[in-house]
Amino acid sequence: MPTRFDDLLAHRTAHEATTICDLFAADPDRAARFSARHEALLFDFSKTQIDAQAFDLLVKLADGAGVATYRERMFSGARINETEGRAVLHVALRNPDMPLVLDGVDVMPALRATHARASAFARDVREGRFQGQGGRITDVVNIGIGGSDLGPAMAALALAPFADGPRCHFVSNVDGAHIADTLKGLNPETTLVIVASKTFTTIETMTNADTARRWMAQKVANPAAQFAAVSTAADKTAAYGIDPERVFGFEDWVGGRYSMWGPIGLALMLAIGPEDFDAFLQGGADMDAHFRQTPLAENLPVLMALVGIWHNQVCGHATRAVLPYDQRLARLPAYLQQLEMESNGKRVSMDGSDLPFHCGPVVWGEPGTNGQHAFYQLIHQGTRIIPCEFIVARQGHEPDLAHHHLLLVSNCLAQSEALMRGRSLEEARAIMAKKGLTGAELERQARHRVFPGNRPSTTLAIPQLTPFTLGQIIALYEHRVFVEGVILGINSYDQWGVELGKELALALQPILEGKADASGKDGSTRQLVAYLRG
Ligand code: F6P
Repeated sequence: MPTRFDDLLAHRTAHEATTICDLFAADPDRAARFSARHEALLFDFSKTQIDAQAFDLLVKLADGAGVATYRERMFSGARINETEGRAVLHVALRNPDMPLVLDGVDVMPALRATHARASAFARDVREGRFQGQGGRITDVVNIGIGGSDLGPAMAALALAPFADGPRCHFVSNVDGAHIADTLKGLNPETTLVIVASKTFTTIETMTNADTARRWMAQKVANPAAQFAAVSTAADKTAAYGIDPERVFGFEDWVGGRYSMWGPIGLALMLAIGPEDFDAFLQGGADMDAHFRQTPLAENLPVLMALVGIWHNQVCGHATRAVLPYDQRLARLPAYLQQLEMESNGKRVSMDGSDLPFHCGPVVWGEPGTNGQHAFYQLIHQGTRIIPCEFIVARQGHEPDLAHHHLLLVSNCLAQSEALMRGRSLEEARAIMAKKGLTGAELERQARHRVFPGNRPSTTLAIPQLTPFTLGQIIALYEHRVFVEGVILGINSYDQWGVELGKELALALQPILEGKADASGKDGSTRQLVAYLRG
């Protein structure tokens, strides 16, 4: 019998009073039983209220939702992005040897050729064979937004210890401050600009690209010669004047937020070199193999998805905090916001009917330990429960600063322990009594020092942040989003929710310029237009 959500809800209601500490007390092997390993990765979800029966129901839920079937449909190129009529094949970008025939055409040779061209270009830039009009390229400015920015920007920071190429900068926001601050101090004669846009129509990216071209033209005779493009729209990159030699294409079956494995990763490849970029791809491919071959109950992306479903749709916790104890993963929460919220932030299921439960969660976060001194107060003592996802590495990249890493790790472990155990009123009273407080004042002060505990978290532990492990982690999250989408019945690969705002912004431009009148707008918008026009 497949599990229904109702079975999980009923189980949750029946066992709500059982705390995580109770579960540990009842099962000395809980940590091992509610964890999974893949190679050197450890995913520990034992500090949640998932018990053996809930786990069983969750796995059956995934099974009944057809996760294994959908997984094969994705890998084999079925058009699972039904609202756009597209296949979903970012996995092909990191699996160069996988056989893939789409509509009777073997698409892999072209994909491998583009990868080889991008790698050769990266080598030429890094080794000085491709030069700017003032000499060797010192700086690369990647202009893109959303999936054409967040992935490479996140990874370039994450893999900073491996960066030995030109400095890479990322401009995304249409706010002129972003490009102005980035270009300030750069030399146009030694800067390479990459215009990264799947569609090559995104207004933010094209506006920033035009500004960069004008900036370069002040010093450089032929700015287009220092531009490269990454796009699916070869006609548009040609019209923009970029030499096809420096245009790296990809297909529409690679979604924007899943595209960093291909040429959208060019800036990253320039920073860390094609060999390390390939190691990143191999990490992704390794996770693909694990996802494809491992039974659901031991499958890391499936388990992560099931913990997510448990917390969001079953327990009703609307948000999920991603808390990497790694400063270089500072952009991971922003990257995951797009990956998870643009993918699973939808109110209708694949067939257009209303979702019978909530969509994917609000995802947010910051690296530890910084967050501890900012928002953890609410996580520990607030009225809402925020499931936390900790990420921590056994080893850092600063052997001379090992004592920093020890502190980092101890803080990470302390947080998940504190969230689970909490501090009772009796314990708080004892602390206050030790401080010499008595009577009503002791009671009042003690209550502020109570931690309810029983707050869930998971920990993903990795050996060290390297190109390979980063590839594993990002593919792990991608597949987790996919599995959650399948279980919720959502199409994780379209993003219609971004369209309305784009359309209205276009219509507002002439109004703000004073070329069209605002009379059709609501009172608030009219008031704001009047104010902002000054
Ligand atoms: O915000 C919508 C979106 O289409 C994202 O999905 C995408 O990553 C981003 O805009 C950028 O699109 P493009 O790469 O086509 O410029």
